[in-house]
Amino acid sequence: MNTPKETRKILVTSALPYANGPIHLGHLVEHIQTDIWVRFQKLRGHECIFVCADDAHGTPIMLKAQQEGITPEELITRIGKEHQEDFSEFLIGFDNYYSTHSEENRHYADLIYNRLREAGHITRRTITQAYDPEAEMFLPDRFIKGECPRCGAADQYGDSCEVCGATYAPTELKNAVSVISGAKPIERETEHYFFKLGDFSKMLKKWVRGGHLQPEISNKLDEWFQSGLRDWDISRDAPYWGFEMPDAPGKYFYVWLDAPVGYMASFKNYCDRASIRFDDYWDEESTAELYHFIGKDIAYFHTLFWPAMLEGAGFRKPSAVWCHGFLTINGQKMSKSRNTFIRARTYLDHLNPEYLRYYFAAKLGSGVDDIDLSLQDFMARVNSDLVGKLVNIASRCAGFIGKRFKGQLTDALPDNELYISFVRSGEEIASLYEKREYGHAIREVMALADIANQYIDEQKPWVTIKEAERTTEVQAVCTQGLNLFRVLITYLKPVLPRLAADAEQFLNGGELSWESIRKPLLGQKINPFKPLLTRVEQSAIDAIVEDAKQTTATHQPQSTVTGEPVAAQISFDNFAKLDLRIARITRAEHVKDADKLLQLTLDLGGETRNVFAGIKSAYTPEQLEGRLTVMVANLAPRKMRFGVSEGMMLAAGPGGKELFLLSPDSGAQPGMQVK
Ligand code: MSP
Ligand code: ZN
Repeated sequence: MNTPKETRKILVTSALPYANGPIHLGHLVEHIQTDIWVRFQKLRGHECIFVCADDAHGTPIMLKAQQEGITPEELITRIGKEHQEDFSEFLIGFDNYYSTHSEENRHYADLIYNRLREAGHITRRTITQAYDPEAEMFLPDRFIKGECPRCGAADQYGDSCEVCGATYAPTELKNAVSVISGAKPIERETEHYFFKLGDFSKMLKKWVRGGHLQPEISNKLDEWFQSGLRDWDISRDAPYWGFEMPDAPGKYFYVWLDAPVGYMASFKNYCDRASIRFDDYWDEESTAELYHFIGKDIAYFHTLFWPAMLEGAGFRKPSAVWCHGFLTINGQKMSKSRNTFIRARTYLDHLNPEYLRYYFAAKLGSGVDDIDLSLQDFMARVNSDLVGKLVNIASRCAGFIGKRFKGQLTDALPDNELYISFVRSGEEIASLYEKREYGHAIREVMALADIANQYIDEQKPWVTIKEAERTTEVQAVCTQGLNLFRVLITYLKPVLPRLAADAEQFLNGGELSWESIRKPLLGQKINPFKPLLTRVEQSAIDAIVEDAKQTTATHQPQSTVTGEPVAAQISFDNFAKLDLRIARITRAEHVKDADKLLQLTLDLGGETRNVFAGIKSAYTPEQLEGRLTVMVANLAPRKMRFGVSEGMMLAAGPGGKELFLLSPDSGAQPGMQVK
């Protein structure tokens, strides 16, 4: 046990948040997960460097700045500052937080690109792309909307249909409009630069099975390999907010080219301050470890493009890329229109950040499962574990030591065996942290907290203190209790750094680490005890929910803001053609091989319909069965890939996660006509 290991050199990153919106609780899952791991490594004596940055390029940032009437530089400076304040208050201990809009990043993006080109991995060809003649710019797929070429659904994005699941080129959309100007996009030819990902297919196939990825991700990658590694389009035409390509005036690197390079740039910026050698970490032959923590939505970029870019440019590849799942709130996707979009700042206005750190830690494992923040469960868990169990140990013992024994601890422990058993658990807990099995680690720590509380319950210092001849016994029992508390706080130090610092101050025995707890704290004075944590009150939870509503309510649809009509008019006759009916969803099932569709059986008060609805992104079958909703009952049946659809459901929202089925008031019956 505790044999000193060699010091590891480790570089760790979290994904770079886009500089066009606030940090929200979803981001924090990732940053808290990463921060815990980094703090753990540092505590174990390893050299572990944690860097991150804002992802400051791309069309959405350019357009947002335009909307606000400021320059992109002004926007990213302001947002970068807000991001850093949020992270710092959540105790995310970056060694460096930087920006992809930096000279270091330009340097490495150019360097990598030039090396790839010299090695023949870049190719050029002319493509046809949608162009907005009014805004005078090429349109990314997400900035074009129109009718689905397959099912005719209105208001679909340029890459895929949320209703029938079709994927297509934006040029295939019917009645397409530019989201930016409302103009009809035209087709225009333009030359683009491509990274030949296929050149790396042999290396990648081996790498993704080389223990660098979670098995779930390697399996997903197999699907991508099967559909072939296509060239990756890495250039964008002006106007674009990003780095101009070194050999192609008017062409810019696509934001995802220079984004991961931002990891290097932030690290380089740190090296220059900290006298660390960049090459020690990024050389092809480097023995340092490199880990990227990311969300599963951006796995493709980090597990295919990024390792290939690094290999092609003569840099080392990541030791591992670790994906986490998505945060849901009370079982719902995070979304503004559902009021489940909680900003970091909103939380900080009402609650201690360590509660959330603890709760996420308790729920996180090494897999890619989504994690749910149920606000009631959060409150119950924090109150019972942290306040009721952990801090309780200290408050039960500290009072006696402080008041009755002038803060003096005894010279020996009454139950040394118990203490040693706590210290021994440290190796198991450490290996759980190392494996990112935080939830399991927390369970182990809380089981020890139960044992410590049980010990105090059995010794009953509050009874023995009344017997004059047994007071030294009380002092010893409380010394034991405080020492057990000291071990537990050490194990939770990666999760609760501020609580640990407060405990260190109170215990007055120096910095806590796996190493320092090998010896108990004896024969010395502790400082007066101040309450370490207070309970989470329902009122704070209510206030967060209320504020989340307020902040999301300010996000009006654009047409309302500008005073334009919401939609063009139609005649009453046209409206009257629609037969809308109340329907009960009697069955809802997944459709094999369909990404977006659910198959629904609808009861129209006697008549039954089979409908395929593109609502899988927002609902599970369980959430749907039994509920009433509204459907278009006289739509001609349509043959789809998976069967015939006999009607259409009505839902509101932009689509994807933000999709809301309509519900009638109570009293409505299946089959009733909606007029
Ligand atoms: N800028 C890119 C990343 C570039 S990394 C070279 C990006 N930014 S993001 O702001 O959209 O997301 C940043 C990280 O937060 C991603 O890893 C993403 O998966 C994660 N999350 C965003 N929303 C999330 C949840 N609701 N839940 C958990 N993680 C989420 O992608
Ligand atoms: Zn469609």
